[in-house]
Amino acid sequence: MEEYKKISIPFQLDNEILVGLQKLFSYYPHSDIFFKIENGNLVLYLKQLDLSDFKRKIWYVKKIFPQKSEIFDIILNEIEKIKSYGLKGKKRVFVGYNEERKVKDRKKKELERGSYFYAKIHNFSKKNNPLPEEFKNKIIVGDSEEVLKKLPDNCIDLIFTSPPYNFGLEYENHKDGINWNEYFSKLFAIFAECIRVLKYGGRIVVNVQPLFSDYIPIHHIISNFFMRNKLIWKGEIIWEKHNYNCKYTAWGSWKSPSNPYLKYTWEFLEIFSKGTLTHSGSKQLADISADEFKKWVYAKWDIAPERDMRKYGHPAMFPEELAKRVIKLFSYKGDVVLDPFNGVGTTTVVAKKLGRIYLGIDISEEYCRKAEERILREENRLL
Ligand SMILES: C[S@@+](CC[C@H](N)C(=O)[O-])C[C@H]1O[C@@H](n2cnc3c(N)ncnc32)[C@H](O)[C@@H]1O
Repeated sequence: MEEYKKISIPFQLDNEILVGLQKLFSYYPHSDIFFKIENGNLVLYLKQLDLSDFKRKIWYVKKIFPQKSEIFDIILNEIEKIKSYGLKGKKRVFVGYNEERKVKDRKKKELERGSYFYAKIHNFSKKNNPLPEEFKNKIIVGDSEEVLKKLPDNCIDLIFTSPPYNFGLEYENHKDGINWNEYFSKLFAIFAECIRVLKYGGRIVVNVQPLFSDYIPIHHIISNFFMRNKLIWKGEIIWEKHNYNCKYTAWGSWKSPSNPYLKYTWEFLEIFSKGTLTHSGSKQLADISADEFKKWVYAKWDIAPERDMRKYGHPAMFPEELAKRVIKLFSYKGDVVLDPFNGVGTTTVVAKKLGRIYLGIDISEEYCRKAEERILREENRLL
């Protein structure tokens, strides 16, 4: 096994730099990282490092040696460039982490198995189309199945939505709580249109809460639908709401294994891609920060449920924070974001705030009016 990762840095060294380097590396045990001068070059020997801590130390040493800050930036850059490492607590482990892996030749084996085999053969066109002007930044009252038929193929970058869950909620203009066959046939007619209007490389993210009391795994049924229709299942996010005040006070068979009832404090976000996993766009238009990215790719998000549902008069809103994370993680500025079950417009108002083009559709005139009001408030705030 390699003892240390060796990084050679050709740089004109002088005494002051050497003192600075000694100061920097004095914070770390020799067994983690050290340096040597070999043939006039600086050589780092690196085994493991807490990079956040290292950055703080670099900042501090640069303050002491402001004239020599370039070398410290180069060192940090060289270490940050290393993309393969393991993790041990807060430390990145740069050597030996592969030996601990149970699967050898991971990449080769992945190729042999074939990823997303179920979506490889499809008829999706790669030609994307612009969204017609009359649909840009609009809230439309109507049945999404009908409204979406008016859109061209391949014109939406990201769909984020939360369909009615068929729980029997009191919506303004939609009967919730119908026979499951009827429910899925309507939902899938709308989702089929969503797939058609999605760009090649576009994503659809569906927030769904299964009705556990009916033993209907809606999230699996929806995922199966998209996969049967050749979308790539990109992943699943657990939205942990910490909702311990679930309405059900019964636990099924109390203190008996005969039929315990499982309870859930979270919901799911199922994510799908059309044609390819990559969504192309200009790097300048990505607006997610490094910290947000690092935090949000861990697919369990702790976000409190929307508290203001009464104020908006809607029984099943999701919070703006959820929409913000989805939109920033999966789309670029200037992208087109659609919500076909837009409710009182959480997706569309957040899309507007984040500089995306929005399109929201809901069957209720009342909810659409509230969605428009939220957009208007945002516009006034910007003035
Ligand atoms: C779970 S709610 C979405 C709430 C939304 N995420 C928000 O934060 O306001 C589902 C919405 O779907 C709407 N809806 C139901 N059937 C529809 C249809 N066929 N076309 C468009 N909207 C529909 C309902 O009016 C309801 O507002």
